[in-house]
Amino acid sequence: MGKVGKAVRPAGPPVLNEEARMISKTQAVAVDDHLHRVKDFHDADASRYRADRYHSETCEGLAYVTRRQIVLAMADVEPGRVLDVGCGPGILTRDLLKKGHEVYSADLSIGMIREARRAACAAEGSVLPHFIVSDASRICVSTDRMDMVLSIGLMCYVKDHRGVLSEILRVLRPGGVAVIQVNNIRWPGLYRAFVPLYHRLKTLIGAKRYDGLDFDFNFSSRKKFLDDLVEIGFHVLDIERYDFRVPFLDILLPRLSVTMGKLMFRGRHRWVYRCFSHGLLIKVRK
Ligand SMILES: C[S@@+](CC[C@H](N)C(=O)[O-])C[C@H]1O[C@@H](n2cnc3c(N)ncnc32)[C@H](O)[C@@H]1O
Repeated sequence: MGKVGKAVRPAGPPVLNEEARMISKTQAVAVDDHLHRVKDFHDADASRYRADRYHSETCEGLAYVTRRQIVLAMADVEPGRVLDVGCGPGILTRDLLKKGHEVYSADLSIGMIREARRAACAAEGSVLPHFIVSDASRICVSTDRMDMVLSIGLMCYVKDHRGVLSEILRVLRPGGVAVIQVNNIRWPGLYRAFVPLYHRLKTLIGAKRYDGLDFDFNFSSRKKFLDDLVEIGFHVLDIERYDFRVPFLDILLPRLSVTMGKLMFRGRHRWVYRCFSHGLLIKVRK
């Protein structure tokens, strides 16, 4: 695992430093088969991730847009040191930089880190994040260092979420906060049965590419996840819901599904909509 980059803007085009290249070559980050597959999928997905996800014309896009909106509201703290773990192409990283934070952006995928670096270099301002190519369960950051950690869109790819949560707890300073996203799963068995079918259907009708997903998702229940957070030592401060969908309506009647998704998002604090939410954002304190 290695730490990459420093918080100054280089004169030339975006390049990763020697250490990152070495890590990429030896694939030292891909420590087992699952990590390999997840890394390969995201390397291939890196250049299209932003355009594919962050728009509100589809239910899935709406989920990304609203998720970002809530994350930024939950992460509205004084400028400090922030780790964006599973940073992807750096969309939240850039938001954090704009807010004046010193940002550490970590991801397993060198392709994603390259995109994040390119985006940060192209943005206004003179400060760049520190880039870290790393598995989230072994982040190259010293203990008690971070004021805040964001873990958004990461947990579903992680085999052992307890290991990653313990790592987040380790790097946070006492009193520091984390915003953690997880799928809102009540019955994991149902997800295990239906999600692959749903992916196949969407690929078939050309609504979305789900090729290359040759790894298992983490389908733990939200109850187990919340229990684990507390057991590991976090205090839960706040929980928000997003990604409201009526099952399979986004395949059958996509436009209606987006309209309903927007409606339910606006009324998301109403009890009646809760069972339609597929995503949770949890704010915790160490
Ligand atoms: C869905 S993207 C989310 C990107 C970003 N956080 C966002 O909100 O747009 C998930 C990212 O997590 C990364 N990832 C998956 N498993 C990981 C692991 N074990 N350690 C570090 N990063 C991981 C992937 O490479 C990918 O870039």
